Amino acid sequence: MNFGATKNTSLLIVKGTKITPQTSVSTIKAPHPSSLLQHLRNGMVNETTPAIHHEKFSSMNQTNALKIGTLLLFWLSAFVPVCFAADASSKLEEMSSETIPTAYLNIDLKTYRNNFDTMGGDGALARSGNDVLLGTREGQFYLIGQDLSVHHAPVPAIDFGIDGFQKSKHFDLIEKGPRLHALLIQDGTIYATYDKYDAKADSIRYVLATFGKDTKTWKELFSSPPLDTKYYTMGGGGRMAALDHYLYFSVGDYGMDRHNKLPSDFASQNPKLPFGKINRMDLSTFRIEPYVIGARNPLGLTADNGKLVMTDNGPRGGDGIYFLKEGDNYGWPYSSFGRHYDDFSTYNSTLNPCKENLAIGCTKHAQPTFVFTPSVAPTQIIKLNGFAPDWNNDFLMGSLKGQTIYHIHVLDERVLYVEPIFVGQRIRDLIQVNNSLWILDDSGLLQILSPSPATTLRAAHSPLPTCVLCHTVNPDPTSATPYAPNLFGVMGRQAGHSNFSGYSIGMKEAAPAIGKWDRANLSAFLHNPAAVVPGTSMPRLPESTSDNAINTILDELQTLH
Ligand code: HEC
Repeated sequence: MNFGATKNTSLLIVKGTKITPQTSVSTIKAPHPSSLLQHLRNGMVNETTPAIHHEKFSSMNQTNALKIGTLLLFWLSAFVPVCFAADASSKLEEMSSETIPTAYLNIDLKTYRNNFDTMGGDGALARSGNDVLLGTREGQFYLIGQDLSVHHAPVPAIDFGIDGFQKSKHFDLIEKGPRLHALLIQDGTIYATYDKYDAKADSIRYVLATFGKDTKTWKELFSSPPLDTKYYTMGGGGRMAALDHYLYFSVGDYGMDRHNKLPSDFASQNPKLPFGKINRMDLSTFRIEPYVIGARNPLGLTADNGKLVMTDNGPRGGDGIYFLKEGDNYGWPYSSFGRHYDDFSTYNSTLNPCKENLAIGCTKHAQPTFVFTPSVAPTQIIKLNGFAPDWNNDFLMGSLKGQTIYHIHVLDERVLYVEPIFVGQRIRDLIQVNNSLWILDDSGLLQILSPSPATTLRAAHSPLPTCVLCHTVNPDPTSATPYAPNLFGVMGRQAGHSNFSGYSIGMKEAAPAIGKWDRANLSAFLHNPAAVVPGTSMPRLPESTSDNAINTILDELQTLH
């Protein structure tokens, strides 16, 4: 079962009057229908149930929990799907399009203008059948169809308590104001995580809320203790994944453990606080408990093969991918592959709970599966299935600082390779919908990636198979691999002149005399590169390459313009 992509989602999209069922309603499985019926018979569904505020993380109010539980089960088990009565309003407007070569396939990248009335930074995507639900940082919802039509989704806006936040004047709204973190659609119910300003506490709380059928507003399922006002909404984590009968959600340390000095203050290590952890909510009892601890700002979480995979943002460095095991302690802020911001000292040497005789005990820290150096600020990670055959079962991870998506091949929880694919945007969220990947960037732009029809040029069937080990053959004149120039349009192009930044000194010196590449000088160059360009970094083709083979290559190059 693919939890991240919510294949069995029961959302129906209603555009105008046409109803498009995305999946057969009978395939939708409610987690615990029998207990739902029991609760319904007992007449316990109560829409006015107050939200649970976890002043103490571990002490759940059982009565409220039961009521909330009843309510949620009611939605989860709603065999009549959620209906979106959306008005057709606009279409995504394409801004740019390019083809990006990767090791095994070319991918098309299209960038779309932001029509979403958002100042960007955070915001989230969720798959709704074949469509995409987009929540802006401001908590407004849009539905984007496969035809790229944009509709206002009939999902109520989330109330972040913005007015109160602005009056409180603790922090600038744009920089540090409350915002939406993530969305998940599971069995016809939408879950959202966000930060909310609580006027009474004069502080921010992390909230997990839900919206489903027949409900008029968002219901809070979990609300963290209020943050001290010196902390704000950066570093809140907020990712969700569903697995078995649990909803897992990440909560960051909100920067607290960077500032705290006393080990006993460390929120990420305190099992009574939700911060710096992946927590989980049992969808039948609504009990919430920590699943792993010692995380810093986990902005990525996905379910894979019955397990959870997390990405975490370390301090200066120490960004990692983690395959989670229940009860693991990843060590933050005692240990990290990152360094202290102020003096570059390591985290491993400063405080060791084994030496400090702490109440929480001496714990051996579990290790990440992979650490990015230099740091990339990892965000959402997803597992691919059906995007492109070459990439099946691989992972894709977004990054903020790196402005790159990372294509990650994993075998038995070992990362075998990581292929960076630069997309030039800070990636906040990514989801797969059929054979396209949707990226929400930090400014609110949308990018859609799909396998390029030109893929074969880069694959084994390429007419230039040896050449594409190093070169690319890409109609986009600005593209080059890090290893060699683009061969598209090389015939007739000035030698040593393309977007490639690594031409040898030999090539730079020889280029004026060579002039433009034509069949004659290219033939000589391919027969013996160094004879035409002394000191070139282009290797000699294998001895066995016949004149015939070189002629075929030249024919092929002539067609590429
Ligand atoms: C091992 C890597 C590698 C392979 C394989 C390779 N090349 Fe190159 N090629 C290069 C590099 C590096 C350069 C840049 C040379 C320089 O700057 O001196 C280059 C330069 C060239 C140029 C000149 C481009 C320009 O902009 O002036 C042509 C043409 C070319 N290669 C064709 C080919 C063809 C055709 C093949 C396949 C039969 C091939 N190469 C295979 C690495 C490679």
